[in-house]
Amino acid sequence: EKGGYDYFMLKEIAEQPKAVADTLLGRIDPSGSLTLDEVRISPSELREIDKVVIVACGTAFHAGLIAKYAIEHWTRIPCEVELASEFRYRDPILDGRSLVIAISQSGETMDTLMALRHAREQGSKVLAICNTNGSTIPRESDAVLYTHAGPEVAVASTKAFLTQLVACYLVALYLGQVRGTKWGDEIQAVIKDLSRISEEVERVLETMEPVRALARTLADKDTVLFLGRHVGYPVALEGALKLKELAYMHAEGFAAGELKHGPIALIEEDVPVVVVVPSPRGRSVLHDKIVSNIQEIRARGARTIVIAEEGDEAVVPYADHLIRIPATPTLLQPLVATVPLQVFACELATARGNEVDQPRNLAKSVTVE
Ligand code: F6R
Repeated sequence: EKGGYDYFMLKEIAEQPKAVADTLLGRIDPSGSLTLDEVRISPSELREIDKVVIVACGTAFHAGLIAKYAIEHWTRIPCEVELASEFRYRDPILDGRSLVIAISQSGETMDTLMALRHAREQGSKVLAICNTNGSTIPRESDAVLYTHAGPEVAVASTKAFLTQLVACYLVALYLGQVRGTKWGDEIQAVIKDLSRISEEVERVLETMEPVRALARTLADKDTVLFLGRHVGYPVALEGALKLKELAYMHAEGFAAGELKHGPIALIEEDVPVVVVVPSPRGRSVLHDKIVSNIQEIRARGARTIVIAEEGDEAVVPYADHLIRIPATPTLLQPLVATVPLQVFACELATARGNEVDQPRNLAKSVTVE
């Protein structure tokens, strides 16, 4: 049942191109417009929405953080993202014009369920993004967009995360389509890139051997830090979460711009720092800023592990280890940039003798608050 892999997690990492393709299947028509029939919230209701609020936990929360960048950029609707466990305890401001999106692989996470119940009590529409047919969260929502990752057995979420991202992009693009915001060449180009993205994920998977080899050399480290900007910031958070849960190592993700406001004090000789570098095309300001961050930490002795787009030569002088990912539009980069971090965490867990599929103290679905 592990299909020749040692762990379900490895199998599920390898299944990501298919999971991504399956989640797109039938949702983009040949003319490049989106058909999301399952989203049973009418276009006229969607046109009335004045705020999107995303609630989720753990890895699904990281997908939500990335979705915020896409939703605000493509639709110009303000979007908040909140940990489901914090959400309903702070008396959030919601009404009939708020669209609440609950993201959950299992569809049974109690915190997320309680958050969506709270939202519905305030009269908001709830759209679930979920991987498990007929589970509680979609049953209690107004509409559901299923991710088609297939069953995820390993406790650490991998393919479900990538498909959550795909679903979030689809929702963002669909909102743009329905509301007619920014529906131009940029969006058409993004849809085209999205429909090809599973091949790029496949290409990343084919180049993971050096990442595994690198991970094995770090098995005796105490700490690994992760830095990113823009959508690379949630990717950094996700890389750190995977490492904590699987390798039981201290790992933290930071927004690279925050470095000088504190975290740079953690940089010392030989601390591994993984940096997710935005594309040098498009928003090149972000790229240049992160290159100076890499220089700063390297000058303080950090061992830099740089994840950068193919053809990005500016990072080469400052990268102790360079992991290449295919060029993608900035907002889609998390789909390729997360994969090496999953492989990295899985390999480190193995090197440290940990149980990869069943990390200590964790459960696949968290049905208590
Ligand atoms: C991390 C992980 C957890 C889940 C979180 C939410 O690898 O698996 O952080 O993402 O417990 O679970 P779902 O998506 O089922 O609501």
